[in-house]
Amino acid sequence: MWLTWRAATERALYGEKGFYLRERPSGHFRTSVSASAVFAEAVLRLLSEVDAELGHPAGLDLVDIGAGEGALVTQVLAAAGPALRDRLRVTAVDVSPRPPGLPDRVRWSRSLPAQITGLAVANEWLDNVPLDVVEQTPDGPRLVMVDVRTGEERADGPLRRADLAWLERWWPLPCVGARAEIGRHRDEAWASVVARLTRGRAVAVDYAHPVDNRPLRGTLTGYRDGAVVPPVPDGSCDITAHVALDACAEAGRRAGAISTTLSTQREALRALGVTGARPPLELARTDPSGYLRALARASEEAELIDPAGLGGFGWLSQRR
Ligand SMILES: C[S@@+](CC[C@H](N)C(=O)[O-])C[C@H]1O[C@@H](n2cnc3c(N)ncnc32)[C@H](O)[C@@H]1O
Repeated sequence: MWLTWRAATERALYGEKGFYLRERPSGHFRTSVSASAVFAEAVLRLLSEVDAELGHPAGLDLVDIGAGEGALVTQVLAAAGPALRDRLRVTAVDVSPRPPGLPDRVRWSRSLPAQITGLAVANEWLDNVPLDVVEQTPDGPRLVMVDVRTGEERADGPLRRADLAWLERWWPLPCVGARAEIGRHRDEAWASVVARLTRGRAVAVDYAHPVDNRPLRGTLTGYRDGAVVPPVPDGSCDITAHVALDACAEAGRRAGAISTTLSTQREALRALGVTGARPPLELARTDPSGYLRALARASEEAELIDPAGLGGFGWLSQRR
């Protein structure tokens, strides 16, 4: 069966027996959340900043979008002090079923809350929002169709006017053979998050590329059991593509964001106190086990801010 990439990915990941309805993400790839609890501590610091900005409201939302196994909200709840924890309304949004063992305090939902006063976080959610792929041919740009069983492609589908407009603005195709991934539906998905913020911040963290440095052939990739595999949309693997976060930022502005910061995870986490600094050697003499614990933590921090790895992820933060 031949489908557009967007339809094929929707079916492969979220259709009946789709990859994300069947599988647990941590079995297939590592995210900042699964890499270290330090990430959740940083999110807690961010949440505390937002709480202060909002004047410590009686009810403060923490919404994790694309929550996977719910690890981020579980860790934030466990680390929060009672004064904050008692006021938190915690929602984990995911299309997959509620994972067993999640704290009762966590509301599990397939859809976003109608209103959010507080912090919405989406770590590696947008890269899993299905998109269409287009290829420049001698006859102009054509939508790429894919055989869902084999992953074979042909570039002969017609393009919608809205997609052409998105390409011209966000991902111009420089030559025959160049490919682009049309992020229009990701922009809409992100705008729907920002639109639900009554007051607070929305933060998206993902593999990203800017408009002046898009990859010539796109970034569509498959993951299975921790390994990169060809992106065949047959439901056997995760299918992901890096995110045009700059386009999402513009959609967020149109949805009402009053300020926007687009940075890297390295910059964002360092501002939240994650430095990767090693403990002083002196500690090894006075408190050897404390030294080892601090050393292990420093190496987890270093992984989260490594510019060649997780630290190179984009952080889009918007405020209302
Ligand atoms: C790569 S996983 C990230 C999991 C987690 N945030 C982490 O960092 O470990 C992406 C998650 O987004 C979820 N997801 C994708 N599209 C969604 C949608 N439209 N609504 C809710 N969840 C969605 C998937 O089911 C999957 O669990």
